[in-house]
Amino acid sequence: MSGEDTPAPQQSEDQVQKGQPAGEPEAEPPQEPQGEASNEAATEAATEAATAATTEAEESQPASTAANDKAPEEEAFTYRALVLTGYGGYDKVKLQLKKGRPNPRSGEVTVRVKACGVNFPDLLARQGLYDRLPSPPVTPGMECSGFIEAVGEDVTDRKVGDRVMVLERCGLWQEVVLVKADHTFLMPEGMTYEEGAAFPVSYITAYVLLFEMANIRPNKSVLIHMAAGGVGIAATQLCQTVSDVTVFGTASANKHEVIKQGGVMHPIDYRTRDYVEEIRKISPQGLDVVLDPLGGSDTQKAFNLLKPMGTLVVYGAANRLSGQRKNLLALAKSWYSQFTISALSLMHSNKAVCGFHLGYLDNEFALISGVLQKLLHLYQQGKIKPRIDSTYHFEQVSDAMRRMQDRNNIGKVILLTEPKKEEPKSKEDSKDQKEEGQNDIKKEEPKEGVETEQPKTGES
Ligand SMILES: NC(=O)c1ccc[n+]([C@@H]2O[C@H](COP(=O)([O-])OP(=O)(O)OC[C@H]3O[C@@H](n4cnc5c(N)ncnc54)[C@H](OP(=O)(O)O)[C@@H]3O)[C@@H](O)[C@H]2O)c1
Repeated sequence: MSGEDTPAPQQSEDQVQKGQPAGEPEAEPPQEPQGEASNEAATEAATEAATAATTEAEESQPASTAANDKAPEEEAFTYRALVLTGYGGYDKVKLQLKKGRPNPRSGEVTVRVKACGVNFPDLLARQGLYDRLPSPPVTPGMECSGFIEAVGEDVTDRKVGDRVMVLERCGLWQEVVLVKADHTFLMPEGMTYEEGAAFPVSYITAYVLLFEMANIRPNKSVLIHMAAGGVGIAATQLCQTVSDVTVFGTASANKHEVIKQGGVMHPIDYRTRDYVEEIRKISPQGLDVVLDPLGGSDTQKAFNLLKPMGTLVVYGAANRLSGQRKNLLALAKSWYSQFTISALSLMHSNKAVCGFHLGYLDNEFALISGVLQKLLHLYQQGKIKPRIDSTYHFEQVSDAMRRMQDRNNIGKVILLTEPKKEEPKSKEDSKDQKEEGQNDIKKEEPKEGVETEQPKTGES
């Protein structure tokens, strides 16, 4: 793991307003590999300098980063991190500065992160509904992409400059991460950092659901809920790699055209229609496979929709999420209507029920790695490709989460570590500001997005 991170105590407002490094030396510019596919310029050095109004961050990386092991310039090193400071709404995820260069121990590498994936479990985690994220304060983030900045002893298959994707239980929404080398995967040539950050969670999940659990084969029918989301689009693409698989998909109506083009033969608007009725109209006998990311009463519906010998794979509980903060009514409803079945009834029904949770496969990295290699092969053959819905800078993490939670995304929502550039000001604006500044110097705002308050923990 990259660590259960402790947030940085915040700099004083004075330091932030002046935007000065408070006597700290500037961080070394990181060396970005040549010839990468992403279009970003190597701006990390500028990032460091721009945000180097340093704070006394407690370094919490699990590896050899104890403060007293470090040279002064290593201690002075800062990097930006998103920190879940307590359970609740969007504002609970704050941008903070951490201090102290994370140095790799044996078997570890340091990765300079360029892009991070936002996943539905991150929304659940913010509300305290995802038990694989340690209690706040903690840095969320299960997947990211970037390049290797340092390698520890005994690491022979990774070198400085390698472009990699990273998969972890949490802790990746920050500019620099320290991870085990075998939790990194080399990115193929041509893959952008945005694609790399969108790849591991959605595609590994979709692959395991379809090929390991449901054993999808030609001429089968599949229902994919949330078909326009990260996992949904990955699953639809993977279904296209098997001949004559009929895909039914639920999604909000405005996304139907896109998912139809992607291979969903029967898109269904679950928000205005009874999707079970719609499916029965097309396929009265039911379906071979249902992938269930919803939970609650939808799991029973999924089971009922199966043909004999059909397979239900449960892999999420999206119905538990309703509104910005934890909704007890939605939780109670989901819990009360959850699916149960006795072994005897299961046998009599001639159906299979499986469950999958990537977050509980921490100790199965050989298995995960094997799946990822197969997926990378499919990517290189042009058979699968992440669809990026939108990108947001760390400062805009609330907007990124809102986009998913408001059901607007088609594909993956990505966070970029690079600081958001300030909008160029019009001549009129700067003239007005100059005049205002002369009259009232105290109106100056802190630098955008950087935390100025000490986070409180355990809030809801
Ligand atoms: N078991 C695992 O290892 C694993 C790993 C990753 C993800 N998952 C699960 O897979 C599902 C999809 O995850 P994802 O990361 O790919 O997210 P996603 O599908 O991109 O999530 C956002 C979309 O979900 C739909 N949605 C359905 N119910 C919702 C609700 N209650 N609130 C907000 N949006 C809702 C909305 O689209 P429409 O209205 O168009 O449907 C929304 O645009 C989730 O249930 C997630 O927990 C499981």
